[in-house]
Amino acid sequence: MFKKFHIFEIDQNSNFLFKIFVLSVPSAIVLLVLAVSNFLSPLSAILAYGAIIVFNMLLILPISIELQKLKKYINSLGEEDNPEIILSEKEVKEIANAAKSLHQNFRAEADALKAKAVSDTAVLDTLPDPILMMDRSGNILQANTAAITLLGNVKDQNVEKIFNSERAYEAISKIRKEESDSQSIAFYLSEPINKKMYAHIKKLPWSPISRAFAVISLYDLTKAIKLEKMQSDFVANASHELRTPLAVIAGFIETLQTSAKDDENAREQFLKIMAGQASFMSDLIENLLSLSRIELSQDEPLKDKIDVAKIVKEVSDALKLKAESQNMKIVIDMPQKISKITADGGQIKQLIQNLTDNAIKYGLKNSEVTISVKVADKIPASKSMHISKGKAVVVSINNKGPKIDAEKLSRLTERFYRLQEHKDLGIKGTGLGLSIAKQIVMHHRGNITVSSTSKNGTTFSVYLPFNPK
Ligand SMILES: Nc1ncnc2c1ncn2[C@@H]1O[C@H](COP(=O)(O)OP(=O)(O)OP(=O)(O)O)[C@@H](O)[C@H]1O
Ligand SMILES: [Mg+2]
Repeated sequence: MFKKFHIFEIDQNSNFLFKIFVLSVPSAIVLLVLAVSNFLSPLSAILAYGAIIVFNMLLILPISIELQKLKKYINSLGEEDNPEIILSEKEVKEIANAAKSLHQNFRAEADALKAKAVSDTAVLDTLPDPILMMDRSGNILQANTAAITLLGNVKDQNVEKIFNSERAYEAISKIRKEESDSQSIAFYLSEPINKKMYAHIKKLPWSPISRAFAVISLYDLTKAIKLEKMQSDFVANASHELRTPLAVIAGFIETLQTSAKDDENAREQFLKIMAGQASFMSDLIENLLSLSRIELSQDEPLKDKIDVAKIVKEVSDALKLKAESQNMKIVIDMPQKISKITADGGQIKQLIQNLTDNAIKYGLKNSEVTISVKVADKIPASKSMHISKGKAVVVSINNKGPKIDAEKLSRLTERFYRLQEHKDLGIKGTGLGLSIAKQIVMHHRGNITVSSTSKNGTTFSVYLPFNPK
């Protein structure tokens, strides 16, 4: 609805009466001279002066009111429901129309610019690589979502401070001094996380309406380097670890072809050993592939809502028979209902399975394996792992057995590390189960701890945050 102005609404600041008085000054002087020269009686002069003032008022008042309406109208043009204006003076009407069309043009331009800025930002935000826009002094004018995810809110910060690298500093200086139009460098970003980055810095064409001086696109090389290292590690580990069982199988084949050619009993026994070695090789390859997959998933976001209690129950049911074959029992201790956590369900199952499998394999026969599920207010700190803040679910898996020395305990999550006593007992294993467990915990921004005493045996505890960040 349109608002209407009051007709005689005169702004107190308009000095209307003062203007009337000033306008009538020349007439007052003329009348005064006529009165002094006796051409006019003082009474006639006063009456004439009064008439002039009234005349001026009648002449000026409508214009003054119109102008004030115009002022209010122009002031209200930017508002959503600006009032309708009713004007009678032709010139004032024309000014109002001119102001209105000027405002409409300006608004249309502003809307177009705003829409362009929004669509430009949306396009930049869809790009997976971080993009930064800096001014001539190196201050960040704009950063896309990928850049904010990597570097935090860097707007208005100086790019040299953000990168904190001599090489990046030199490249940016060259652009800023206009010694070069573009620079490409690889450098190490130390904050917020250690990453090797590739940066392409490109000077933008000069524009009178923009402060943007150069654009910086970043590429994360860490993942590519990691991938390369993982591939070579995989090949090295696989070939090293597969060599022994392969040599065993090859040796038995040769024996079966030569000296034990006609020995029925030996054949039976050797084939059993060879089958065992083949199954070990297949476990090894399976575990190595699993380890690579989990390492690669480290940067993948966790989305699923997982019921840890349900997974613990499933694992316990699946390993019940294995436990019973050792005369062992799995006991679940879960004093309270636990809310779901944000996690990768498959990985959490593998984690709990690996730890429970170890507890059955290395625990004291005829004893219990206890899986307890509780909530902790925070996750214990770690020097090597990125850990989420806030509450976490703690799954502790305990088995009875001899105490493991602290020095050995700290090495258990190393790849292929196995305790000598277990190798001597002939307990089979690839030595990768705990490395996989550690990688899964890392992916979930949690922690894994282990303690061992002669009274209570060995306990592995995994802390899984409700909301990994
Ligand atoms: N609960 C445990 N109690 C005592 N020792 C353990 C326990 N869990 C692991 N270990 C020791 O740590 C070593 C490494 O365990 P890990 O799970 O990584 O490999 P593994 O069990 O030998 O092989 P895999 O997991 O492929 O079967 C084991 O060989 C064992 O010596
Ligand atoms: Mg294991």
